[in-house]
Amino acid sequence: MKAVVWHGVGDIRLDDVPPPKVQEPFDAIVRITTSAICGTDLHFVRGTMPGMREGTILGHEAVGVVEEVGSAVRNLRPGDRVVVPSTVACGTCSYCRAGYYAQCDNANPAGRLGGTVFFGGPQAAGGLDGLQAEYARVPFAHVGLVPLPETVDDGQAVLLSDIYPTAWFGARLAETGPGDTVAIFGGGPVGQAAVACARAQGAGRVILVDGLADRLELAARQHAETVDFNTEDPVEAIRDLTGGIGADRVIDAVGVDAQRPSGGPAAADDRQAQLFEEERRQAAPEQHPDGDTWVPGNAPSQAARWAVRAVAKAGTVGTVGVYPPQVDHYPFGEAFMKNLTLRCGNCNHRRYVPRLVERVATGALDPTPLITQWSATVDAIDAYAAFDRREPGWTKVALGLGGEGAMPPGSGEHAGVGTGTTAGGIGRPTGR
Ligand SMILES: NC(=O)c1ccc[n+]([C@@H]2O[C@H](COP(=O)([O-])OP(=O)(O)OC[C@H]3O[C@@H](n4cnc5c(N)ncnc54)[C@H](O)[C@@H]3O)[C@@H](O)[C@H]2O)c1
Ligand SMILES: [Zn+2]
Ligand SMILES: [Zn+2]
Repeated sequence: MKAVVWHGVGDIRLDDVPPPKVQEPFDAIVRITTSAICGTDLHFVRGTMPGMREGTILGHEAVGVVEEVGSAVRNLRPGDRVVVPSTVACGTCSYCRAGYYAQCDNANPAGRLGGTVFFGGPQAAGGLDGLQAEYARVPFAHVGLVPLPETVDDGQAVLLSDIYPTAWFGARLAETGPGDTVAIFGGGPVGQAAVACARAQGAGRVILVDGLADRLELAARQHAETVDFNTEDPVEAIRDLTGGIGADRVIDAVGVDAQRPSGGPAAADDRQAQLFEEERRQAAPEQHPDGDTWVPGNAPSQAARWAVRAVAKAGTVGTVGVYPPQVDHYPFGEAFMKNLTLRCGNCNHRRYVPRLVERVATGALDPTPLITQWSATVDAIDAYAAFDRREPGWTKVALGLGGEGAMPPGSGEHAGVGTGTTAGGIGRPTGR
């Protein structure tokens, strides 16, 4: 079968590999119809999340059809159409039962303290083969896989694997409540989805900060108030927009590959630039850029620093942008002096996916406009590179693997115009 395979930092290829087999009683084999490329995948190719094993299939976002189930799986059968949550969890340990699926005690072969397990990640994250392939093995399938109604198409469902659950989780981490002003750093897919999720959780105003015109435009079409960090100091802009107070809640949807401004009043001075350079060496000890592709972010702590500064006193920062274990720079003293609440982590996908499927099925949410490109499997590596360089229009790439239900290439033409994405203004708060 065809699969996107990690060979090294800066080296990914579309390979022919053997299809997976059922190994454990709770496994399922899923024929993937649609997958997607995520900002998280870029960390592995840029070198900002080390520890990948050569030969690992990438990808942790997919929709597909159950092909085969292990002997212990009672709730799924071949032919069921499902969305695959990005993280893997047993469903029986105390963490899973409390909803902390990303901290499952049993999913990681390295044991309880091994860390979050997800598809297509480093050895430390379980070393599982990923979902950018024609078939995938899903452990604990009876807990993980979420069946889809026919009314939810692949384009919508693939964004429920990771992007919308993470955005929902980010808005929860930030303690978004009725009437809150929420500032989102990062206008990638997660940040864009967070506009809708923050509103659905009651946000009164949503401000989104990025440095890319097309992503700011996508957010503006969702009626977010946008700030370009290359022309304005985002902290000052957020204070100005909030009567000098700052945002009640901030969501960091950037993470370790943060960029510093290329110009404007917030551009780094020499001392800051030197500090960021040290951080970059710490974040990505091995780097293999190819020209302007696979280049790690040049200011790993930039979004974190802005988040802490832009939030109001006694406010909350929810961080879903990924920071790997080797990164230990955070403006803790500033956060302390402002009595901030800081919450962060890997999304407990399985906790949110079923409710999000329901929202899409009822028409309360339409994630499709976020997919700005559909790519065929054969073009996967070029699509990765265009997404990595953040070329205009390449905000979110879905990979059609040719199955039924997949949206045809070109469906992203209307990206950002779907009213269902967020329009409707202030939604009713829905609690957890
Ligand atoms: N916690 C989780 O479970 C989880 C799940 C999915 C994704 N993520 C992480 O969320 C982050 C975003 O994912 P994505 O797919 O949207 O990625 P992405 O790379 O497409 O988006 C990042 C965006 O941040 C912008 N940006 C860069 N520096 C910035 C800065 N200093 N201030 C504001 N914006 C800045 C970029 O221009 C880009 O639009 C990644 O770190 C990803 O790994 C976390
Ligand atoms: Zn993802
Ligand atoms: Zn568990």
